[in-house]
Amino acid sequence: MVKVAVVEGDGIGREVVPVARDILAAVRPDIEFFDVEVGYGRWERTGSACDEETIAALRSADAILFGAITTPPDPGYRSVLMQIRRALDLYANVRPIRGEGVDVVIVRENTEGLYSGIEWTEPDRACTVRVVSRRGSERIARYACTLAKSRRHLTVGNKANVLKSDCLFVEACTAEAARAGVPCTFCYIDALCLDLLMHPDRYDVIVTTNIFGDILSDAAAYLVGGLGLLPSANIGEGHALFEPVHGSAPDIADKNVANPIAAIRSGAMLLSHLGDPASAAAVEEAVDRVLRAGIRTPDLGGAAGTREFGAAVLREVGRGKA
Ligand code: NAD
Ligand code: IPM
Ligand code: MN
Repeated sequence: MVKVAVVEGDGIGREVVPVARDILAAVRPDIEFFDVEVGYGRWERTGSACDEETIAALRSADAILFGAITTPPDPGYRSVLMQIRRALDLYANVRPIRGEGVDVVIVRENTEGLYSGIEWTEPDRACTVRVVSRRGSERIARYACTLAKSRRHLTVGNKANVLKSDCLFVEACTAEAARAGVPCTFCYIDALCLDLLMHPDRYDVIVTTNIFGDILSDAAAYLVGGLGLLPSANIGEGHALFEPVHGSAPDIADKNVANPIAAIRSGAMLLSHLGDPASAAAVEEAVDRVLRAGIRTPDLGGAAGTREFGAAVLREVGRGKA
């Protein structure tokens, strides 16, 4: 039995995760799912968005399927997702971007950088400390190089022209790439944002620090049809969490219009992680067949609802098995 923790979260997380979960259940009847509630909704109801017990429940799972949570810009509210990533030490945020003429993987450092959590507010200024450690840089560089070794090459997105902290990051990536024998180039992150959109064929694996990877991946969604399509994996030594790149999208929540593909593809990444690439491929192919049949949610110009799209993928998964 494989244990998968399911966090629907807030907003469209509550719509897209059940779709992804049903598809996982169809391809892998041996998965035992258990629900874990975290997020803004829980905070409003109980005053706590996540606690030690929640983290322990997440730790007990073989993998976590995560939706999205609302993070209000309230000084009294700490991002739960950041707490979870840190508590489970999910240091590699892997974001594949695949589509017509595009096959790029962004590997985002996921535990430090500007998300160090070291911040304070004074009467006339507020400070956030950007921490780039040697250990943190080396391990994400190693992860990205291992991936690039099985693919083509590595690009290091950085701002070492201005930030001393990125000099250390670049140094670590240079050393790891040389050790792994991976062709490696460097690009300032601002220039990279544009060049990736103009010439996606020039890129393969991109490794970068936390917030740069956050911004770059949302921008890269433009290449393949938007945020509704991009999955991600948050990987650590002992734990792994799979979630869409998008957020809780309150503007479209509860309307049955959210695109569940990002969540479904995150489920496929979860299956690969569990050592079942065949089921992962079956899910990916089912999504592609449904898209080719012209069934699409409104963000892709179609009229299918979240649930209807999910039902179509479920049918295709069933057909693939028969
Ligand atoms: P968002 O990703 O939720 O939405 C950005 C835009 O993309 C919106 O117009 C939305 O309607 C659209 N969109 C997103 N996912 C879509 C989908 N599956 N189908 C169709 N359209 C989709 O980002 P935001 O609006 O900046 O943030 C909303 C909330 O989500 C905030 O509280 C933010 O902190 C949170 N957030 C959470 C996560 C997470 O939990 N992983 C990630 C990003 C943002
Ligand atoms: C993401 C999100 C998160 C981040 C927020 C919700 C903490 O934007 O996963 O991309 O900034 O990492
Ligand atoms: Mn983001």
